[in-house]
Amino acid sequence: MELKKYVRTVEDYPIEGISFKDITTLLKEPTAFKDVVDQISEYCQGKGITKIVSLESRGFIVGGAVAYCVNAGFVPIRKKGKLPSLVINESYELEYGVDSIEMHVDALTEDDVVLIHDDLLATGGTALAALNLVKQMNVKKIYFSFICDLTFIQTEKKIELANYETHSVIQY
Ligand code: PRP
Ligand code: MG
Repeated sequence: MELKKYVRTVEDYPIEGISFKDITTLLKEPTAFKDVVDQISEYCQGKGITKIVSLESRGFIVGGAVAYCVNAGFVPIRKKGKLPSLVINESYELEYGVDSIEMHVDALTEDDVVLIHDDLLATGGTALAALNLVKQMNVKKIYFSFICDLTFIQTEKKIELANYETHSVIQY
């Protein structure tokens, strides 16, 4: 199935010069949505993954579905101030702007094998911030999964992320 054709590119959103990958056009197609979830679930097989750690907000959609499919737990990483209990925090740079993300301190244990999932890998800033949160929990192993990887964007952060096994469904 050619999934790339379901992703809509919106030029100059949210600011001029950004070519935005809109996955809503993929998500609304039942067969495309299922294929993405199935491919990521397939990647999880044999890895002993116990937790899918997903990033607010676009990472939650497929992350939750994959957690269900692979019988893993779901852990949300949210933007600052959204999680109710004790959190750890990490600041990061976006393709556009600066933000900070948080995860509950009791979300993971040393026994967990984690798949960090997000919809998109652009500069790697968000993924690296998530990695820095998850690493603090001394989990057994960390994998990454993205729907789209903008491979034409090369950054130092992405070089650091390359130390981890990563799966992406669609590459640009
Ligand atoms: C977007 C996207 C990824 C991140 C990728 O999220 O969903 O999470 O940017 O960019 P990066 O690799 O350069 O860090 P955004 O922060 O716009 O928020 P949203 O998911 O809530 O829409
Ligand atoms: Mg996001």
